[in-house]
Amino acid sequence: MSSPLRLGIAGLGTVGIGVVKIVQKHADLLAKRSGRGIAITAISARDRMKNRDADISAYRWEDDPMAVAQAGDVDLYVELIGGDNGIARQSIEAALRSGKDVVTANKALLAMHGQELAELAESLGRVIRFEAAVAGGIPVIKTMTESLAGNGITRVMGVMNGTCNYILTRMESAGLPYEAVFEEARQLGYLEADPNLDVGGIDAGHKLAILSSIAFGTRVNFDAVEIEGIERVSIDDIRRAADMGYRIKLLGVAQITPRGLEQRMSPCLVPADSPIGQLAGGTNMVVVEGDSVGQIVLRGAGAGEGPTASAVMSDIVEVARGVRLPVFGQPATGLEPAQPARTAVPAAYYMRLELQDKPGALAKIASVLGDAGISIDRMRQYGHASDSSVPVLVVTHKTTPDAIDFAIEALPRTGVLVSDPVELRIEEV
Ligand code: NAP
Ligand code: HSE
Repeated sequence: MSSPLRLGIAGLGTVGIGVVKIVQKHADLLAKRSGRGIAITAISARDRMKNRDADISAYRWEDDPMAVAQAGDVDLYVELIGGDNGIARQSIEAALRSGKDVVTANKALLAMHGQELAELAESLGRVIRFEAAVAGGIPVIKTMTESLAGNGITRVMGVMNGTCNYILTRMESAGLPYEAVFEEARQLGYLEADPNLDVGGIDAGHKLAILSSIAFGTRVNFDAVEIEGIERVSIDDIRRAADMGYRIKLLGVAQITPRGLEQRMSPCLVPADSPIGQLAGGTNMVVVEGDSVGQIVLRGAGAGEGPTASAVMSDIVEVARGVRLPVFGQPATGLEPAQPARTAVPAAYYMRLELQDKPGALAKIASVLGDAGISIDRMRQYGHASDSSVPVLVVTHKTTPDAIDFAIEALPRTGVLVSDPVELRIEEV
């Protein structure tokens, strides 16, 4: 057997300690599968005195992650600190420059600076692996870069933030408003330190930007992802959507169109009986469509110690085996800058309108939709929400986002709405 692969791990939080535990628990298994031992030599975190859920006394402690990244007795630098800049980025660059490969779970960093890091790594003959960065324990990066390498990818989509999926499914099952479930999620420790990364759709947008790059051979471009979070999803919409046979999900979709690359992360309706519609709690699902393979559905835990550390370990074993792949599946200098395109693919839409209950109100609504070129597929009026208003639901036939924007702007001018109209795209999944 060759000499062991020596790891330097920076970051000993949820994921870092998970990796330490697997290295300790499965030392023999990992050695057999890799053809060499895997040993931790150096570690770093902020607080040396913190009680960790693993015995780390055998490893050399460094206060500064840069010392791990540059250590002579480290072959592979495992960055599990996080953050889209700062020490995570500096230490990865230092590790690459000092001849080390890198494994990371840092989606924010890859989404923001993946292209520069990939070019640096490849110019130095190093690899960066990041299976855990997208959808936690689900092996989506390896599936796309390796298993689907023979396919033209036509669409990638999925639910990639477990916290948002937990909030949306819990709102429906418990009949609770967004604010109450958000607070529950906070108390359960599900939310990122900055909750807007989760509920604002940013974390999931980072993941989608990474998948787009691999899928379409384009430079990762997070700024081009159209992002809307789940904050405006109300319990009313969740209930009404369910009445019409749908569930609301924070759904990411990336596809190449004649106008360019569409990347969007937004709350959408999906059929309740579809695989994505059935996805409950903190679980993630990624759907990839290839021109030969058809549709692949990957489902599993998108976060947490075990699942995320499992994905990090798969990268460590890959490096130990001597597998060397370009960062985004093809050489970084060959990745094309994609023309960003606002979503133009037609879809059906759901609209919820609170109308004054008076003669002619529905006719005015129908007239605006007609003027916008929107055809109504289904319409349902409910009993009185209050003395003076009635909720009306509309499901349209396929129409364009521009037509919907036109209607949303024009509807309040009818004078028959008692609150702002709500519209959500219905995605075909
Ligand atoms: P975490 O629990 O907050 O742990 C972060 C670790 O980094 C801690 O050990 C912390 O030290 C250390 N650290 C922070 N600043 C440091 C500094 N300046 N120098 C040295 N160490 C520093 O984070 P995590 O959840 O494990 O996440 C790690 C990475 O995995 C992030 O990129 C995250 O996005 C990604 N990820 C996480 C999950 C998940 O389920 N948690 C899933 C997928 C991807 P102390 O312990 O001493 O404070
Ligand atoms: N905050 C993320 C989630 C963690 O809820 O999915 C995993 O990336």
